[in-house]
Amino acid sequence: MPNDSIGSQKQILQHLAVIMDGNGRWALKRGLARSAGHRYGAEKLYDLCVMCIERQIKYVTVFAFSTENWRRPADEVAQLMDLFVYFYNKYKDEMEKEGIRLRFSGVEDGLSQRILDTINEAESTSDKRKTMQLILAFNYGGRREIVDSSKKIAAAIQNGELNPDDLDEDSFRDYLYLPDVPDPDLIIRPSGEQRLSNFLLWQAAYSELYFAEVLWPDFSADIMDKALEDYSKRDRRFGAIGKE
Ligand code: FPP
Repeated sequence: MPNDSIGSQKQILQHLAVIMDGNGRWALKRGLARSAGHRYGAEKLYDLCVMCIERQIKYVTVFAFSTENWRRPADEVAQLMDLFVYFYNKYKDEMEKEGIRLRFSGVEDGLSQRILDTINEAESTSDKRKTMQLILAFNYGGRREIVDSSKKIAAAIQNGELNPDDLDEDSFRDYLYLPDVPDPDLIIRPSGEQRLSNFLLWQAAYSELYFAEVLWPDFSADIMDKALEDYSKRDRRFGAIGKE
C-alpha cells in the first residue's frame, strides 16, 4: 500500500518503529536454539526495510539490543553482537543500492571495538543516502536516553551555554541521541506482548501502538498492511479535541 493512499492522505506515516520480539519463542516452537530465532529475525529485518521503502516510509527504528539484554546468558549476548556484524556485512551492498542510511541510537558502554568500528563504518559510509533511514536501537534504553539528555543539559547549564528558563519540550529534544529524527508515528510490537519495554520513551508520547500476535520471524507484508490500515483509521489528536 503506497504511503499516499494510507488513509487517503489522512495521515502520512513518516516514521515506523518496531520492537522485534518473539525470536526465542519462534525457535523453541520449532525445536531450534534461540540463536536460530535471532538469525531469522535478522533476515526479517532486511525484509522490513524493503517493505518500508515500497511504502515510502522515510524512517524505521528497530529495537535490536536493549540495555537490559545484557542480563541474558553470555552466549546469547555474544550471538546478538555477532549477528549485528553479520547483518551489516550481508546487507551493506543491498542497503547501498536501495539508498538506506544507517544510524544507531544507544550507548557505547560495553560494546567491543569490533562493534564500534562496524557502527562507525555503517554510519560514515551511508550518511549521504536519502531513500530511507534505518535506525538500529542497539544497546539502547529509553530511560537511559532521558538520563543522558539530562546530563548533557546540566553540563550546558553549568558551562553557561543554556539558560534553564529557555529549557522546554522543544529544546529538551536537542539533547536526545538523534534530535533530528521525527517521533515515531506508529510503533508495532509483534509477539503478543503489549508494552513498550523501555523503547523510545520520550519519542513515543503520541505514537500510535499496534500489537500483533505473530512472532517477529513470521512478520509479513500482509501484517504490515493490516497495521498501516489500522493506523490510517486512528484519530491522532495530540491532546486536542477530535475532528468529529
Ligand atoms: C526479542 O526476542 C529480540 C531481541 C532481544 C533481539 C532482536 C534482534 C533481532 C531481530 C536480530 C537483528 C539484530 C541485529 C543486531 C541486526 P526474544 O529473544 O525476547 O524472544 P522471546 O520473547 O520469544 O524469547
